[in-house]
Amino acid sequence: MPSIIFFEERPVLAKGHRKNNFINEQKLLSYFHDEDYSALDLLKGLPPFHLSSDRPLLFYPGCGVDILFPLHYLQILFPRLSQITFFFVDLSHSLGIIKSVFDDIGVTFSDKNNILLFYWKNTLIKLCYCQGDVFSILETLPEYDIYFEKAFCIMKEQDPSYESRVYQKLKPNGVLISDSGFQSFPLQKIKVSPELSSYREMIIGIKKASQ
Ligand SMILES: C[S@@+](CC[C@H](N)C(=O)[O-])C[C@H]1O[C@@H](n2cnc3c(N)ncnc32)[C@H](O)[C@@H]1O
Repeated sequence: MPSIIFFEERPVLAKGHRKNNFINEQKLLSYFHDEDYSALDLLKGLPPFHLSSDRPLLFYPGCGVDILFPLHYLQILFPRLSQITFFFVDLSHSLGIIKSVFDDIGVTFSDKNNILLFYWKNTLIKLCYCQGDVFSILETLPEYDIYFEKAFCIMKEQDPSYESRVYQKLKPNGVLISDSGFQSFPLQKIKVSPELSSYREMIIGIKKASQ
């Protein structure tokens, strides 16, 4: 049985966003199940993706406390990005836990009205965390360059039009990364191992420019 991962919020000081943080690898690994971390290696053979925007937006619905998976996908699939905005949405407010995770593993950040700025490897990331219901917030979002979804399969079933709405808001040449669904959408699908998804439905696809 996989071990349980504990996430605990504690007061954390914003020390400013600094490049070249020393990442405590042991702590980092303690936030992953071994098999999930090893599975990330399956991404490493993929060619890097190129986005139309040099200031892209990544949207992650139902993120919970998960900051480390999108960061690893970013590092492997978009290694040359200099900056990006993450827009996270969840019913619960977990930004405090994310700050505690950063502090544990050695990522320093700036915090302005709960918008965090930090570096992951060489990429400057602005993290906006919005507490709310993604099914209504999606309508208000601008178009995004990357859609990232993990463990949201059951939740999205409550809105049969959800995937279609997500697809509409993905920019042309935008990249959709999901561990479930989206199989019937006209995406240029990249061959990836189903082992990356606990539902065995991993999809990474690019929205063709003309669609
Ligand atoms: C199974 S957890 C997955 C969390 C994270 N994606 C991960 O992989 O660790 C599902 C998350 O979806 C959130 N959620 C459920 N319904 C939601 C909704 N309507 N809008 C936003 N978030 C929602 C829950 O609060 C929970 O954090």
